[in-house]
Amino acid sequence: MPPPPRSDATEQRPFDIDYSRMIRTLNEAHYATETSFYTAAGLRGCEERLWERHGRDARILDVGCGAGRVTRAVAELGGRITGVDINTAAIDAARQAAPRVEYVEASMTCLPMPDDFFDQVWCLRFSFNALASDDERLATIGELWRVCTPGGMVLVEAFNWHHQGCLGLVRAANLLDLLARRLHTYGSRGRSVPIPDRDILYLANKAAGAAPGFAHLTTVRELRMLAERCGLGPHAVVSSEAGLLDGHLTPVRTRHGAYSMWLVLRKPEEH
Ligand SMILES: C[S@@+](CC[C@H](N)C(=O)[O-])C[C@H]1O[C@@H](n2cnc3c(N)ncnc32)[C@H](O)[C@@H]1O
Repeated sequence: MPPPPRSDATEQRPFDIDYSRMIRTLNEAHYATETSFYTAAGLRGCEERLWERHGRDARILDVGCGAGRVTRAVAELGGRITGVDINTAAIDAARQAAPRVEYVEASMTCLPMPDDFFDQVWCLRFSFNALASDDERLATIGELWRVCTPGGMVLVEAFNWHHQGCLGLVRAANLLDLLARRLHTYGSRGRSVPIPDRDILYLANKAAGAAPGFAHLTTVRELRMLAERCGLGPHAVVSSEAGLLDGHLTPVRTRHGAYSMWLVLRKPEEH
């Protein structure tokens, strides 16, 4: 008997991809091959000032701690810090770099930590940009807020999609990339869908032979919207680095041209 004809419905079924899972696999390979960089690197100037200003007397949670760059430095300065990361290889390297620090292997989207526990919740150097979907970003902001003590602070350092770069070239390249994606979708009559806007895959350069990386480039508006969707709008400021470090939390407008920006959430004291 000849096989039954394939129905149109079967032919037109979209190719199912679990995008978040695919990005998690990519991240796992990428960050496992970059541990040598994060173990050896020290604090950046802004982090030293962050420590001086907010970290010294605080119980700190380092979210997406990687191979222990910040946990090691803070432990050496006599601080109290816990590291959490989803990557087994990174956590293993962090344990070697700073053995006395407590580490937890978990996703920032679902932290196995009590409510109202850490005075400072830091998600530094673009760990937030490793998340692949709005659901994950919303869950993470909710979790960072939940584990922060009343009177405490959540800091998320995020890549800026509007970053200008030298002579505005980065900005121009990003806009061309966006246009190319639109044209690609148009040209294929929607049958070929590019990865979501502002998601990029890049060649890693922090360690020889490292696997390619992923980043979702955020905008000021997007960070504000995420905070609002979590019901945290009144407590949220997207600040420049200078504003964060001089204590004024200067809100940045949509056309902030610097490389990074900071989502700052201040949790009110309980009455
Ligand atoms: C760019 S590295 C930054 C490491 C560290 N914050 C630093 O400044 O040295 C990003 C880290 O985020 C971690 N990460 C990515 N997705 C995560 C998730 N869902 N939960 C926890 N950590 C995650 C990666 O495994 C990686 O170690």
